[in-house]
Amino acid sequence: MILPVIMAGGSGTRLWPLSRGNYPKQFLKLIGNQTMLQQTISRLHGIEHNPAMLICNEEHRFIAAEQLRQLDIEHSGIFLEPVGRNTAPAIALAAFKALENNKDPLLLVLAADHIIEDQQAFHRAVIEATELAEHGKLVTFGIVGDKPETGYGYIKRGEALQHGFVVDAFVEKPDSATAKQYIGSGKYYWNSGMFLFKASRYLEELKVFRPDIYAACEKAIAVQSSDLEFIRVDKAAFEACPDESIDYAVMENTKDAVVVPMDAGWSDVGGFAALWEVSSHDENGNAFKGDVKAVDTKNTLVFGEDKLVATVGVQDLVIVNTKDAVLVAHKDKSQEVKAIVNQLKVEE
Ligand code: GDD
Ligand code: MG
Repeated sequence: MILPVIMAGGSGTRLWPLSRGNYPKQFLKLIGNQTMLQQTISRLHGIEHNPAMLICNEEHRFIAAEQLRQLDIEHSGIFLEPVGRNTAPAIALAAFKALENNKDPLLLVLAADHIIEDQQAFHRAVIEATELAEHGKLVTFGIVGDKPETGYGYIKRGEALQHGFVVDAFVEKPDSATAKQYIGSGKYYWNSGMFLFKASRYLEELKVFRPDIYAACEKAIAVQSSDLEFIRVDKAAFEACPDESIDYAVMENTKDAVVVPMDAGWSDVGGFAALWEVSSHDENGNAFKGDVKAVDTKNTLVFGEDKLVATVGVQDLVIVNTKDAVLVAHKDKSQEVKAIVNQLKVEE
């Protein structure tokens, strides 16, 4: 049986000032009427699965709980991390928990902050991956990439299987020259950041490649407490856990990875340019949310939160107006808002 594990502990700094430390990207309504987290759960409809498990930071527990409550669905609990230690430990906690009642479900690990336009294609890919995962494979879902993005994992396709391919190499966040070469070769997929594997297989591989993370998580989960739907682990033990992503800790090292290609209109909305791309546009290529008046404006993204935003004679801009901050950026440079966030952190 599939147990969805939804990772919602990221900080989403490239969407500042929409995304904030105390209210990050996954909890925002970026497209449509549901938040990214809610969309992640809603798109499971059509896949037979157990109630999903959520894992996020302690700080966001009430936002997460409220968003699940609004969906009015059953879930398997909200794991609270006292500190963020990245995805390898987060998934380890979920895997240990899943194994507690002598079952070994397939964990469908999902990021809470992605957009998938074609739900049927997503469902098909998960179903194709199921048998591979039942046989002990660690399945990744591969996206055909078109630009040498350095923020992704790259998966080299090997021997063809009935569904998917053996993974010949997994390289997390290569430098830009390497990414260019990968895209040019036509042999690499982007890693979508979603995975399917048996809980036991993940932990076996983690134990081999990162016994330190395995041991810290095993220790942390040995002392659990639950109140309401929240599950907490031993704070000191989890704080002592090394910070690492599943990609570096396990996927780059395992010999048992396979990739199932997924052509589902996937985007990780990694910045405002990507948000503009996945939004619906008017005849001038503008994507507006909120109260916006525009004259002679093209290819511009405006998020107006609490007051009217007006634009005249501009193009290719990103304008985000929130209660306490306004961002104006060129769309092609909008990745660099990260630099602003870093400056703000220094000033804190
Ligand atoms: N619970 C929890 N705890 N969740 C976390 C944590 C954590 O400490 N850190 C990150 N997450 C969540 C984020 O909210 C996001 O949903 C997901 O895990 C992935 O984390 P990111 O920080 O966004 O990873 P990334 O974008 O740098 O890279 C990953 O995703 C790419 C595709 O978007 C990798 O898997 C890449 O290989 C992949 O290409
Ligand atoms: Mg990401």
